[in-house]
Amino acid sequence: MSGIRVVGLGAALPEKIVTNAAFAARLDTTDAWIAERTGILERRMGGTTSSLATQAGAAALANSGIDPADIDLLVLATSSPDQLMPATACTVQQALGISGGAFDVNAACTGFVYAMVSAAGIMAIGARRAMVIGSDVLSTMTDPNDRNTAVLFGDGAGAVILETVDDGPGNLLAWDLAADGSTRHLLYIDHGGYLQMDGKEVFRRAVRVFVDSAQKTLRDAGLTPDDVALLVPHQANSRIIGAACDRLGISLERTAVNLDRVGNTSAGSIPLALADAVAEGRLHDGDVVLMVGFGAGMTWASVALKWGP
Ligand code: ACO
Repeated sequence: MSGIRVVGLGAALPEKIVTNAAFAARLDTTDAWIAERTGILERRMGGTTSSLATQAGAAALANSGIDPADIDLLVLATSSPDQLMPATACTVQQALGISGGAFDVNAACTGFVYAMVSAAGIMAIGARRAMVIGSDVLSTMTDPNDRNTAVLFGDGAGAVILETVDDGPGNLLAWDLAADGSTRHLLYIDHGGYLQMDGKEVFRRAVRVFVDSAQKTLRDAGLTPDDVALLVPHQANSRIIGAACDRLGISLERTAVNLDRVGNTSAGSIPLALADAVAEGRLHDGDVVLMVGFGAGMTWASVALKWGP
């Protein structure tokens, strides 16, 4: 069985910036309410899941120097696919010139972590190089006139390229995937409908499952919160992130937060925050990165990775 390491990273955001003031101008809301209750100041809107995923994937290929023909697996996390069928991953595969298998994973905002662990599992039994993308355009699936949800979501994508490691266990130290289908009524989108959410209940549960999953993954990796150089949480609400960090004992100084600029980008959220942190020089070879996601399902998941070669 082969281990994996991350050898490329890319991100993509639409150009159009939508500020809180733009919502306040037409809905019964204020910049202050959105900023205080969510931490979001602005978000990006535009593009499609495949176009943003292709852009992020191309950036990750350029960052890694790897030829797309040498990628033998593409896993795309999304809950806003271009079409119900075929998988949006197939559109991205063709656009990037990737030769291997391609499929979508839907675990809502937890999708990127689910996709990364899925890819690592397939690589353990033979795939050599994988591209893992999280891409969503949930702004197209929220009711623009519903102040409860419209202000929360933005569009975006992030991608990583994984390579197998032959001479050692690899850099994926531990993982946790979880779901509780009995809570699927808390957050859903029906065919042809808009996103519906019991925000308060999602909030309450999110903090608990975030902490449980992070602690399980750290325990399985033989690590403590002090060993984590960078926590990359799903970017849903700064108050969820703050409460989870408090309970975990990981300071905000060691946490990647970019939701003030991009809002909740669903499956794009974790790789986008990771890409920002790397661009800011916050990760060094050998550092432990802990990624934690939660979302509709409800699903939640975490993965601990060693950064670098
Ligand atoms: N502007 C002004 N008032 C608002 C707005 C708004 N944009 N949105 C809601 N309100 C109102 C509500 O209508 C409510 O009014 P009421 O008391 O008269 O009914 C009041 O604010 C308080 O509502 P709460 O739900 O108590 O507000 P809360 O502090 O919980 O914040 C929020 C709401 C931001 C949605 C929060 O609950 C949250 O972030 N929840 C988690 C959401 C989440 O993580 N979702 C994504 C999961 S990821 C995925 O899989 C897609």
